[in-house]
Amino acid sequence: MRKKIVAGNWKMNKSFDEGIQLVKEIIELYAQEVKSQTYVVIAPPYIHLHKIQPLLFDMPMIALGAQNCSEMSSGAYTGEISTAMLKSVGCDYVIIGHSERRQYFNETNDLLAKKIDIALTNLLQPIYCVGETLDERNSGKLFEIIESQLSEALYHLPSENMRQVVVAYEPVWAIGTGQTASSAQAQEMHGFIRKIIAKKFGDELAENISILYGGSVKPDNAKELFSQPDIDGGLIGGAALQARSFIDIVKGF
Ligand code: PGA
Repeated sequence: MRKKIVAGNWKMNKSFDEGIQLVKEIIELYAQEVKSQTYVVIAPPYIHLHKIQPLLFDMPMIALGAQNCSEMSSGAYTGEISTAMLKSVGCDYVIIGHSERRQYFNETNDLLAKKIDIALTNLLQPIYCVGETLDERNSGKLFEIIESQLSEALYHLPSENMRQVVVAYEPVWAIGTGQTASSAQAQEMHGFIRKIIAKKFGDELAENISILYGGSVKPDNAKELFSQPDIDGGLIGGAALQARSFIDIVKGF
């Protein structure tokens, strides 16, 4: 059975104190209200990670993730954070290839393949993001684009490593815009992603990989999205910045 996961990507938001407060509220609401076996990943800015780790000791269903990592292992790379460092402060996940990293920081599939490798080497589970722009969707090249994002960053992996990867489908036109993909559009792409993973890595692996949807997921659309057969959870931006809305999304399962 594949894991149901709701991950909160805070992006570049929340001061240190605000972040700690938000995690405390999430823990409290999760403990009181969440009845399903849904895993939560909290991905705050780097500086919060170390102080959040001890808050999660009694919460086996809530894990810590980073929003990015270096593709290098260590050394003279001013300003970078390595996957070994992330592991050492308690991260279990790292988001790789978010569309904002692709768009504003020119991250390519080749670079992302390296980040995937080093994350796996340090026992972090990558949450690997794929998604098309509106122009790409309208051009009819939608499926080609998604397939190349997957193949160029993941197809070199041996199966035992691929099993550790979580995929997030996030149409770029739906991120932060309030315009979510319809549940039918999202399901169509999730089904396609699972199908091509099955073609490359086999049915059993594809059946067990979690594929999350991201892009303007809110409490009022989460339930419908999560009820689709190939949608195993969400990657949440704006609505993850408040405990109430985040937990209401988690309760969509
Ligand atoms: P959003 O962001 O929920 O604010 O659209 C999603 C994401 O970027 O992961």
